Amino acid sequence: MNTKTDEGINKDILSEVLNGLNKVPKILPSKLFYDKSGSKLFDEICELEEYYPTRTEIKIMQDNIKEMGELLGEGTLLIELGSGSSQKIRLLLDYIPGLAGYIPIDISSEHLLNSCKTLQVEYPNLNIFPLAVDYTNSFELPKIDIKYDHKAVYFPGSTIGNFTKQKAKEFINRIAKIVGPNGGFIIGVDLRKDKKILEDAYNDEKGVTAKFNLNILNHINTELKGNFNLDNFKHYAFFKEEIGRIEMHLISKVNQNSKIGNSVFSFKKDEHIITEFSYKYTLEEFENLAGDKFNLKKYWVDDNNLFSIQYFKKREK
Ligand code: AVI
Repeated sequence: MNTKTDEGINKDILSEVLNGLNKVPKILPSKLFYDKSGSKLFDEICELEEYYPTRTEIKIMQDNIKEMGELLGEGTLLIELGSGSSQKIRLLLDYIPGLAGYIPIDISSEHLLNSCKTLQVEYPNLNIFPLAVDYTNSFELPKIDIKYDHKAVYFPGSTIGNFTKQKAKEFINRIAKIVGPNGGFIIGVDLRKDKKILEDAYNDEKGVTAKFNLNILNHINTELKGNFNLDNFKHYAFFKEEIGRIEMHLISKVNQNSKIGNSVFSFKKDEHIITEFSYKYTLEEFENLAGDKFNLKKYWVDDNNLFSIQYFKKREK
């Protein structure tokens, strides 16, 4: 199947972007943040004073890793979704007794294969089965020729927060299918909290999140032959309390037209483009979201109740 135009443009991404810009309000897919510079900017965000999720999740893991490893259990075949988070996975690999194997899944095959090479040197006896797919769509696991007791999915970073609630539910249903009988699911989930803490995390003083947000236009310019002028847009992020989500927008500073290929889009001064949702859950809300398919067995939070790691077991029919 040909998914590229004659100019080498990914047709699926192009039509997603064009559809989104024809909506009211305009919306762009947040996966487009992560080109090379966007991924670098995201790494910078994770180091920011105001952006608490990454370091808080790591601290929760460090403080409870022995218990997490034991709960995941003997003979686990561990599947990681979005396997960029090297520090976190190394903790788990060290603490799961009799770990049977590890399936890292990432959309970028180059990134995936490089990190697997490094990991294999550090863990020469570990069975690694890398899989380069977009895990937000349905996918099949590779055929595994080793013995294992059960599968478990690891999904850190509160990436689930970037899905709408409907999408998050569908995604969890798919995970239930993937792990199968006796399957486990361990996930990092950012918690609802004081508006100020949340808004500061997405409006850092150094302006890294603003650059990250604007970079989506840069990515469109290079990958889809766009001509957005980044100076004519500004970053805006706020917590929508009634829905429980951070919204990131880009606001047009002027009346302007921008092109993607031959398609022209008009922006009024002060018009918004939605670029990301980041849902924040209470423990109860998330347990309910996963509850059709999974039983919550254990959760861990930090001392300030900022972030959670939750461990679920698949419900038996
Ligand atoms: C990847 N994801 C969980 C981040 C978040 O917090 O929703 C992406 C991000 N957007 C702005 N800052 C970080």
